[in-house]
Amino acid sequence: MSADEKTNKNLYVEDGDEGDENEGRVPPFQTPKGVHDILPHDHEYYTYIKKIVRHRCRQAGFKRISTPIFEYTEVFKRTVGEATDIVTKEMYTFEDRKGRSLTLKPEGTAPVCRAYVQHGMHNLPQPVELYYIEPFFRYERPQAGRYRQFWQFGFELIGETDSALDAQVILLAYRIYQDLGIADGLKLQINNIGDLESRKVYAEALRDYYYGKERYLSDEDKARLQKNPLRILDSKHEDTMILNQSAPKFKDFISKESKEYHEEVLMFLRDLKIPYVENDNLVRGLDYYNQTVFEFYDEKKGGQNSVGGGGRFDGLIELLGGQPTPAIGFGMGLERVIAQMKRNKVRVPSKDDLHVFIAQLGKEAKRLSIPLIDKLREKGIKAMGALGKPAIKNQLKIADRFKVPYCVLIGETEVREGKAIIRDMSVGTQTTVAFDKVVPEIIKRIGEKNLDFYNPSEPV
Ligand code: HAM
Repeated sequence: MSADEKTNKNLYVEDGDEGDENEGRVPPFQTPKGVHDILPHDHEYYTYIKKIVRHRCRQAGFKRISTPIFEYTEVFKRTVGEATDIVTKEMYTFEDRKGRSLTLKPEGTAPVCRAYVQHGMHNLPQPVELYYIEPFFRYERPQAGRYRQFWQFGFELIGETDSALDAQVILLAYRIYQDLGIADGLKLQINNIGDLESRKVYAEALRDYYYGKERYLSDEDKARLQKNPLRILDSKHEDTMILNQSAPKFKDFISKESKEYHEEVLMFLRDLKIPYVENDNLVRGLDYYNQTVFEFYDEKKGGQNSVGGGGRFDGLIELLGGQPTPAIGFGMGLERVIAQMKRNKVRVPSKDDLHVFIAQLGKEAKRLSIPLIDKLREKGIKAMGALGKPAIKNQLKIADRFKVPYCVLIGETEVREGKAIIRDMSVGTQTTVAFDKVVPEIIKRIGEKNLDFYNPSEPV
């Protein structure tokens, strides 16, 4: 078992001093199917990703937005598309006490556009650049990298259209993957699915192609043939996938302008040295896209579980009652990014590591420990003590498990003599110092630059 798996399984079981009484027992309550706890070790990854994302977004002028966990169901039906998997079978939809239909948000683009219209953001200088880091909910079949609650970082650039912007959005995503140390293993695939008019013509051509071949289609794909034949291209049904290979191709139906637009995006990507592959069958699972669509996926694992994806959605704001407004955006799943980081053995520097552990013996020592811990923390030293544990041996075991570099020991003798012992845990040496010298001595050993201070005047 890897260290990660061990930590995740046993995180709160203190084997050793408490005994292994939890071993072999299945606790009566588990997380519901398809969702997971984020334990402290994994939170370090989330925090790390958020920091990188915030930094890159700030550099590019994006501001953070949060929308509610649920929206009126119609927001998604109208935009994501009535025939999509998300709307037909993956939404957590419920009625409130007044019978209004609400849905836990399965994705972030439609809510951000709803907010853009609701708050009159068309009055702001355009483009409006927004990003979010939030949980989303989809009732999908749980499997590796596919959860019913997952976190997504996404950003949307609303109010302007240009092929250079599409390239910029892809560049931002690419830089974030680079910062996270996973860009090398990811492949960018890109397609242009034309404007709404050419999509209609293409949809008709697809219908003509599949009519007469219905017996090879799954029931789901037959339904798609009526509602939105483009979705058949996304099918995971084996016979349909074979049929799809000879289906009419989008690029034969998109307009001259769309083709030129696409060529420009590709040219910018080459200029930026972002490797890509073109994929004619890439349509993405949401109906609001037009023109550029793209996805990043792990080459070794294939295109099934994309690590991030996005595209242009020029018609979405209008669908939500706004003026026709061009827009483009991108979203990536944090769980999939973290899995990729772990596969690539990316180490996350942790700020959570403690500096000092205080071990004490006897009532008087405990009385001295509490203000000492407080004083250490006030000076920027991350300190803790197992004040409820009586035996010093057990306290030291805990200090060992926290991998602290230093331990302060206060026993009855030290109380009597007004002293404390500082133990260097890496080499096991001990030094006795006067009690009022403990804090300066620890600061000296840790180093001023490693102290952990919150600076309230630092810009947020
Ligand atoms: P999406 O492709 O549905 O696009 O999701 C974006 C990313 O979220 C995926 O590439 C994947 O990493 C992650 N993801 C999706 N579903 C799951 C799941 N069940 N479990 C774990 N991770 C998942 C969108 O949602 C669009 N709103 C993206 C976008 C923003 N397009 C324009 N702007």
